[in-house]
Amino acid sequence: MDSGKIDFSALSGEGVSWTLLGTLYLRAWENRLPHPILGDRYAAEALERIDYDFAPLKRRLRPNGNQFLVALRARQLDDWCTGFLTRHPAATVLHLGCGLDSRMLRLDPQGTLHWFDLDVPTVIGLRRRLYPEQGHYRLVGASVTDDGWLDQIPADRPVLIVAEGLFPYLTATEVQRLLRRLTDHFPTGELLFDGLAPWTARMGRLFRWGVRDGHDVERMNPRLTLAEQVPITEHRDRIPLRRYRLLYDLMNTVPALRNASADYRFTF
Ligand SMILES: C[S@@+](CC[C@H](N)C(=O)[O-])C[C@H]1O[C@@H](n2cnc3c(N)ncnc32)[C@H](O)[C@@H]1O
Repeated sequence: MDSGKIDFSALSGEGVSWTLLGTLYLRAWENRLPHPILGDRYAAEALERIDYDFAPLKRRLRPNGNQFLVALRARQLDDWCTGFLTRHPAATVLHLGCGLDSRMLRLDPQGTLHWFDLDVPTVIGLRRRLYPEQGHYRLVGASVTDDGWLDQIPADRPVLIVAEGLFPYLTATEVQRLLRRLTDHFPTGELLFDGLAPWTARMGRLFRWGVRDGHDVERMNPRLTLAEQVPITEHRDRIPLRRYRLLYDLMNTVPALRNASADYRFTF
């Protein structure tokens, strides 16, 4: 691993790639608690390595509860990953829109799996300095909407596809096309992602796709079967601070807020 500070000015501006710093920051913040939900110490370590002024981001994100949205979302996806990788220790993992997420370190999977972390080339250039390729761990710098990159991912094993914080930034047509390419390429596997309700997606400047219900995705791609759909507030009992647990209890009682964001698991 490169030990110097990493210059993140390439991510300046307000584009989609910049959002990875928000999720990284919130995971590091959540890790400060004595009993965190996710406990992502790698996020905290990565922040130390990044040369970037986080003060404006901190003012904007105000980690006053949204760190638990990010932690609950990631924890659910991690739990599903663990389940799949226990059943298929020699799988291929394809992690789309990985940003600086440390999922492969958090899960520390044993066995002979092949892990591919993909993001746009600028992000992969930065990520490479924090988490270099080694063994069966590979980095792919491409847009998920590009043709071609899938050809380098072997399709001879069950695949676990994880896309966290990615699909809301794609259009419905891009999501549909990507899902079709994925299910055409891999004979069998699982697809995990988080989605925003259409009304939530309309609130963000950068968001372009919202999903009402997992069955909408089955209609988009009949090869996918919805296995689980878990609202972000579902496991609010994991929140270690009482005042935020109560806030999430309240959110959970309002159907629109309960369904504002969910994690999805599909099989194919
Ligand atoms: C909100 S961040 C989430 C990053 C990471 N999954 C996490 O949870 O910290 C969104 C990520 O999606 C990536 N992204 C957005 N559009 C993309 C595309 N078309 N192809 C590949 N990655 C994309 C961004 O570069 C960024 O890293």
